[in-house]
Amino acid sequence: MKKLSFIILMAFALPLCACNGQKKEQKNEPTMETTAKKDFLELAAGRYSVRHFAPKPVEQEKIDLILEAGKLAPTAVNSQPQMIYVLRSEEAMAKANQISRCIYGAPQAFLFCYDDNRVCRRGDNGNYGEIDVTIVLTHMMLEAYNLGLGTCPVGAFNPDDAKKAFDLPDNIHPILLMPFGYAADDAKPSDRHTSYRSLDETVLYK
Ligand SMILES: Cc1cc2nc3c(=O)[nH]c(=O)nc-3n(C[C@H](O)[C@H](O)[C@H](O)COP(=O)(O)O)c2cc1C
Repeated sequence: MKKLSFIILMAFALPLCACNGQKKEQKNEPTMETTAKKDFLELAAGRYSVRHFAPKPVEQEKIDLILEAGKLAPTAVNSQPQMIYVLRSEEAMAKANQISRCIYGAPQAFLFCYDDNRVCRRGDNGNYGEIDVTIVLTHMMLEAYNLGLGTCPVGAFNPDDAKKAFDLPDNIHPILLMPFGYAADDAKPSDRHTSYRSLDETVLYK
């Protein structure tokens, strides 16, 4: 009887050991199970639109990480139509300030566009370019905040002005600007930042 109990015990224990070993090997691979939801909500709540930047330029390593976060974003049929212009020369920033009053002193900005030659088309003659680019921007905005940087998504400009200013070819469609950088010491969230509609107003279970 003792022998039988031992065999039954081992039969259950061995697969458990194997399973634990497997989990350890995968520990650097984030999964739905291991993603810490609270950390993400803290990140999402802490980010705000920065409207006063310090003149300090952002290091290339940080720009690279932000761009990498954008690369990982989902796009329709994985078409990846985004074209991201990193504006940071004096000349480019002067043009950015000419086409929008919402650069807020940032020494650099992203101009988010989509490429009409790569975009995924929709049945209604439209395409997913704006949606794809906005998701890419969101990844980058959150990674910038994760790295201690501020951002502000900016729609206040005329895309035709951006096309002219940056000499963009016809197939490139500007969607949003995003000044980014180190927040100035006196930067603070606007009142809108914490003005949320309740979930009752924006969510319906059916
Ligand atoms: C598509 C889009 C366009 C925006 N355009 C501007 C803009 O032109 N100028 C600006 O100062 N903020 C702009 N914002 C920032 C919003 O005003 C801001 O996200 C909103 O008020 C919530 O505040 P928060 O970002 O501080 O949480 C834009 C945001 C989005 C998503």
